[in-house]
Amino acid sequence: MPAITYELIKRCSQTGARAGIIHTPHGSFETPIFMPVGTQATVKTLSPEELKEMGAGIILSNTYHLFLRPGADLIREAGGLHSFMHWDRAILTDSGGFQVFSLGDLRKISEDGVAFRSHIDGSKKFLSPEIATKVQMDLGSDIIMAFDECIPYPADHDYAKKSTERTLRWARRCKDALVTDNQGLFGIVQGGIYEDLRRVCVDELIDMDLPGYAIGGLSVGEPKKLMYEVLDYTASALPANKPRYLMGVGTPDCLVEGVKRGIDMFDCVFPTRVGRNGTAMTWNGRLIIKNAEFEHDFHPIDENCSCYACRNYSRAYIRHLVRVNEIFGMRLLTIHNLHFLIDFMRKMRQAIIEDRFGEFYNEFAAKYVLK
Ligand code: GUN
Ligand code: ZN
Repeated sequence: MPAITYELIKRCSQTGARAGIIHTPHGSFETPIFMPVGTQATVKTLSPEELKEMGAGIILSNTYHLFLRPGADLIREAGGLHSFMHWDRAILTDSGGFQVFSLGDLRKISEDGVAFRSHIDGSKKFLSPEIATKVQMDLGSDIIMAFDECIPYPADHDYAKKSTERTLRWARRCKDALVTDNQGLFGIVQGGIYEDLRRVCVDELIDMDLPGYAIGGLSVGEPKKLMYEVLDYTASALPANKPRYLMGVGTPDCLVEGVKRGIDMFDCVFPTRVGRNGTAMTWNGRLIIKNAEFEHDFHPIDENCSCYACRNYSRAYIRHLVRVNEIFGMRLLTIHNLHFLIDFMRKMRQAIIEDRFGEFYNEFAAKYVLK
């Protein structure tokens, strides 16, 4: 049995949406799913117990950050990331490719890998497909991501083609470097906004017969309409018996559009980051809790939300905490935002299972205000 398997439960009769279950060595979770981000081996401000209470079945962490601090050796010494951070459900780790490429002038790409300077102390570092895979094996994450280049937007066809071909060669090197039966390697589809490149990338990755496939290089500044077009042909070309993961996407409108096109997994810092910044996510759009309109508002963030924050605290109180920069305010908004997104995915899944995803989609679009 491969470490990671996908079980299809139900397909929507009108759209590409699907409900499934992904099985991992650290438990199974229902899809479509949103994965909270725990970059530094913690989902900022929350304990694992709190994450479990809101129903999180898998979290994401980052090779780049953990490689720099505290280092893969220390985490291996601790018995792996699960034991180090006291999280016994599934973990997916991103490969570091994306973070390294965001460093701008601090990095240099070659066929072998990427030389860069640590954003912490400026020291020289190097990541390659082999090193990124080895680090993720040491971390013990259930799902290991291939080391890729996230092509910036805009990029011309010539650059995108060369980069995509290198990402494919790197993916094969990651597969060769993986020597474990209880972790699964996901390939990442790149290709920029070019259909021919995306299709070649999908075909080559399918030939590698990996347990799952991610779509990378989106939500990097391109218009949403263009992202949905790329998703249309990319997601539908991926095999139906494997999980499909759209990287770095997590606003409700994009989640609905992704699920509609058959995406099963998503991650994004959005809910946690804006929460720490004083924004609450709701079915009607974002609430900027800091705003004066909530000064005397003693209602919960959302009357219909069953999260710890909404069961016990008012908008006025949370606004006060945010304004005076109290950690508890950040915690309450993080709890609410993640609870909201996990519940949002669960409701989409239920709609798919009852074959009324089309209605869900229309109701969402009628209520949700894009800001
Ligand atoms: N996170 C968001 N987009 C990407 C991507 O293209 N590659 C990787 N590795 N991580 C991402
Ligand atoms: Zn709530």
